[in-house]
Amino acid sequence: MLVRLLYVSQPVGPVTTAVTSSLLSLSSRYNKQANISGVLCQGTGLYMQVLEGERTKVNQLFGKIMADKRHEHVELLSMEDITERQFGQWSMALVHLSKDDPMVKMGHPEFDPYAASSSDAMKLIQSLIKAGVPIDKADQ
Ligand SMILES: Cc1cc2nc3c(=O)[nH]c(=O)nc-3n(C[C@H](O)[C@H](O)[C@H](O)COP(=O)(O)O)c2cc1C
Repeated sequence: MLVRLLYVSQPVGPVTTAVTSSLLSLSSRYNKQANISGVLCQGTGLYMQVLEGERTKVNQLFGKIMADKRHEHVELLSMEDITERQFGQWSMALVHLSKDDPMVKMGHPEFDPYAASSSDAMKLIQSLIKAGVPIDKADQ
């Protein structure tokens, strides 16, 4: 059973490049092995992550992620059964939401993922990717 999980959280402390790159290299290694794909969106004071894969694997990983002290207020937005992956080409892509503020450019300055519906949050992630927001580590 293939699922897609979406959650939002808040980094503890400032998110530095070192924190993110160590997180990403570890993540993409494990995710490849567990056949998990997805996207990690990192904004100012915000993470939004999509995890796709076998339900048991996604649950196991999400359990670890929830317990991770590098972020807090982890809130599950959705978990749905899927027939195909949307981000299958990425073991974990990193999408930057901060600084030049793509949300503002995209006309979503008010976007609050804690208040949004999960479908709006997914649509935002998809539109950011389509609009060519910089993506790191785009391999599988
Ligand atoms: C925002 C965020 C996203 C993460 N995403 C992943 C991920 O996609 N894959 C992964 O293996 N670990 C990810 N981690 C790290 C896990 O929480 C955990 O540290 C890692 O799975 C190693 O766990 P272990 O040492 O218990 O095996 C993430 C952590 C944070 C804070």
